[in-house]
Parts: sequence; C-alpha cells; structure tokens
Amino acid sequence: METRNAVSRREAIAAVSAIGAGLAAGIRPVHAESLSSARKRTPGAGDKLVLALIGCGGMGANDMKQLIKKPEVQIAALCDVDKNRMPNDIKTVTDKYGKAPDLYSDYRKVLERKDIDGVIIGTPDHWHALNLIHALEAGKDAYCEKPISHDITEARSMANAAKYHKKIVQVGTWQRSTADFTTAIDYVRSGKLGKLAKIHCWKVEERGAGRGVNAPVPTNLDFDMWTGPAAAFPYMANHVHNAWRWFRNTGTGKTGDWGVHMIDIGLLGASKDTDLVMPSEVAAFGGKFTFVDDDRDMADTVQAIMHFKDPDLLLHWETGKDQPGRPDHGTEFVSTDGKTLRVWRGGLKVFDAYGEAIPIENTPPTNDHWQNWVDCVKSREQPRSNIASMAQTTIVCHLINVALEAKQSVAFSKEKMDIVGKAGKDSIFYHRHYRAPWKLPIYK
Ligand SMILES: NC(=O)c1ccc[n+]([C@@H]2O[C@H](COP(=O)([O-])OP(=O)(O)OC[C@H]3O[C@@H](n4cnc5c(N)ncnc54)[C@H](O)[C@@H]3O)[C@@H](O)[C@H]2O)c1
Repeated sequence: METRNAVSRREAIAAVSAIGAGLAAGIRPVHAESLSSARKRTPGAGDKLVLALIGCGGMGANDMKQLIKKPEVQIAALCDVDKNRMPNDIKTVTDKYGKAPDLYSDYRKVLERKDIDGVIIGTPDHWHALNLIHALEAGKDAYCEKPISHDITEARSMANAAKYHKKIVQVGTWQRSTADFTTAIDYVRSGKLGKLAKIHCWKVEERGAGRGVNAPVPTNLDFDMWTGPAAAFPYMANHVHNAWRWFRNTGTGKTGDWGVHMIDIGLLGASKDTDLVMPSEVAAFGGKFTFVDDDRDMADTVQAIMHFKDPDLLLHWETGKDQPGRPDHGTEFVSTDGKTLRVWRGGLKVFDAYGEAIPIENTPPTNDHWQNWVDCVKSREQPRSNIASMAQTTIVCHLINVALEAKQSVAFSKEKMDIVGKAGKDSIFYHRHYRAPWKLPIYK
C-alpha cells in the first residue's frame, strides 16, 4: 500500500486502466490514508443513523428533508462554505428536534466526528470526489449527489474507494426508485418490447448563466474553499451557486446534469442488472447555439451517438432547444420491429410499430430512494444506485463531453474501463489537474 500525493497524468492513466479489473476482481488501493482512524461501528437496529449534510441550500437540502423524515435518522450537523445557504436547513433541523444542528464550513471537521455515521453530499460536481473519498476514509457511509464526479479518473477512484472501505454509497439518481422507471426497465428486460435496436434519451436545455461581472467576494462565502480542486478564477456570482453546472471548470453541462438521469435509465434497460452495458464507441457534436450571449462555456446543443457491441445497439443523447409535442425529457427504447417504450418523470407509454398504444401493468412500487439507502446501511447490501453502477453511467456521460472536446469519436473498453487509444485523454472530463493543495486519492 502506498500513498500518492498527487495525480500525475501517468498515474491517472494507470488508475483508469486498472479500474475495470478492480471493479470485477479485488481492489488494490494505492491510497489509503487514515484507515486506522476509520470508524468501525455500523449502525444497528435501534441505533440512530447519525448524519451530516455537506452542501446546503439546494439538492442536498432536499435529500436531507427526505432523510430527516425517517425514524432511524438523526441529522447532527450541517456544513457549507456559504453561511447564507444554511438558514433554511438549520430551521428544518431545529424544528424537527427542538435543537439547532452543529454548523461547519470545512467538511473535514465534520468527518473527524466519531459520532457521525454518514454524510449527504450536496456540493457541486467538482467537489464530489474529494468529499466522498475523504468521507469513506473516515469510515462514513454516504448519500452522494449525481453525477458522481467531474471526470472519469475520479469516478473510477470513487467506486474503488467505496469497495475498498466496504462503505455503502447511494447516488442521487432517485428515478431508479420510482414506479414509471422501474416498470419501464422491467418491461424492456422481460423481452416484452422485443430485441432492442436503439435507445433515445433527451433533455431540453432551458438555462444559461447570463453575463457576469467581477465583484468582491461576499463576506458570507469562503470562495477559496468553494473553488477547491477546480482552477482558480475571479469571483463572479453567475459562476457559483447553481450556475456552476454550465462551466467546464466546475460542472459537466446538461449531459452530466440530466444525461446522468435519462441515459442511466437507457443503460439499465439494456442491462441484466446494475452492472451496466458500456459503449464501445462514442461520437458527439455540439456547441453554443442557443445561449450565445452568455458566459457558459459548456455546449447548450449536443447530439451524441454511441454504439454498444454487447448487446448490439445504438444510444442517442440529445440536448438543445425545446420541441413542442413531447415531454421536455425522456428515455425511449425502440425494438427491432419498431415497438417503442417512452418513459419520463410522470408518465410511461408503449406503442406498437403503427403508433397504437399498448396497455401495460406497473410493477409493484419500491420503497423510496432515501429509505433504500438507510435500509442498505443497516443490511450492508448494495443500494439501487450503488456507486459502482453509477460510476458506469457517469463515465458514459463524461465520454460524451470527452468526445466533444476531442472533436472525434472516442473508443472505450468495458473490460479495461478505459478509453482505448489517445483520443480524448487530454480532456478535463477524462482527468483534471487539481489546484494545490488538493490531491485526488487514487484507488485502483
Ligand atoms: N438528484 C437530483 O435530482 C438533483 C437535482 C439537482 C441537483 N442535483 C445535484 O446536487 C448537487 C448540488 O446541486 P445544487 O443545484 O443543489 O447546487 P448549489 O450550488 O445550489 O448548492 C451547492 C451547495 O454546496 C456548497 N458548497 C460548495 N463547496 C462546498 C464545500 N467544499 N463544502 C461545503 N459546502 C460546499 C455551496 O456553497 C452551495 O450552498 C450537484 O451534484 C447536482 O448535480 C441532483
């Protein structure tokens, strides 16, 4: 076991090439700091699952609101680098327990607490890898928001770290726990739709970042800690809360933001279980066609096509301006004889090759996504959106951004869980260089 202090390009490539085998066989950690201090206690029956929220005010707050309803859960602490993002969440916890939560601005202080069993990670994408791996090393289970990472190298290390530390990580792709999507996946997997020929996934792009101006950093925000491992940049409000997703330094565009939901359903339907089919080749075209007078630097219009060899089929991902007459997002499975299943948040339809609706029965509902994590923390079984599986979906989304940046198609090997050849390996979405002093722990 050795500790690496920085991820060089060579190390990143080595990590990526070893991870596929690592996911399938045993994990060989090359970084395993503070293992001796890792918390060994596993919450048992009658024992509260004590949680902290890292990243308040947005989706993390929503996750906490779902979890605080569970009788097994106790929310003990909140952490954010912006004090102004915390008041609503403080109120939620205080109203529930009659006592305010402990407040932090540095997540590492939260992780030092031995009484905390798990963390909810609701920070922007550029922080997930460090938040999660450091939490795992401190012995915590985690509910981590999607996409799991900002690049492919991080995704692989995160999945391997969870396996190495034997921790239970649920990713926030809650569609995996809702009736329409589980019915769609069951129907496609049962063979009732027929042999799959193609999968179409889309989400309308409706948001830009606007134009920003340089401004003094607000006193309520620790901007250096907000930036973390991303490249330093002058503070502008339209690059930070919520809008970070439209910038390649901190986000992954609509493909990482929503592709990770809709493509995830496509991959699940084409797979036997949560070990997902992976494409052998990914091509993508796109650019800024809609939000032209806008600071965002991620494409607002993307068309991506990927080929899978096993099973032999195509998946198409699209984002761009709205089209009337269809839901603003969805996943469609199309069989070789033209039958189509369309599923979106709020609906599910199956059509025969002539467009006539075919009635289908819903499969029995599952418990909710947050309960699934709580149950799995107790049983130590893998949750529905386990991190190994969500690393696969996240990597597929990153491959689209990688192909866009490479301006050529990118070949991929599921066996090696890596890009084949050189194309794409210079992309930030394959591997980013961390801003000092931050270092990505690499788990192979
Ligand atoms: N599952 C879903 O349906 C869903 C929906 C929306 C967002 N998300 C995901 O949730 C995550 C958060 O998205 P959002 O829209 O809520 O973002 P946001 O910008 O609104 O909130 C993120 C919060 O994290 C805080 N933060 C940043 N760095 C931090 C650090 N080092 N330590 C502690 N706090 C830090 C920010 O100050 C901010 O308050 C993203 O990964 C996003 O993709 C998931």
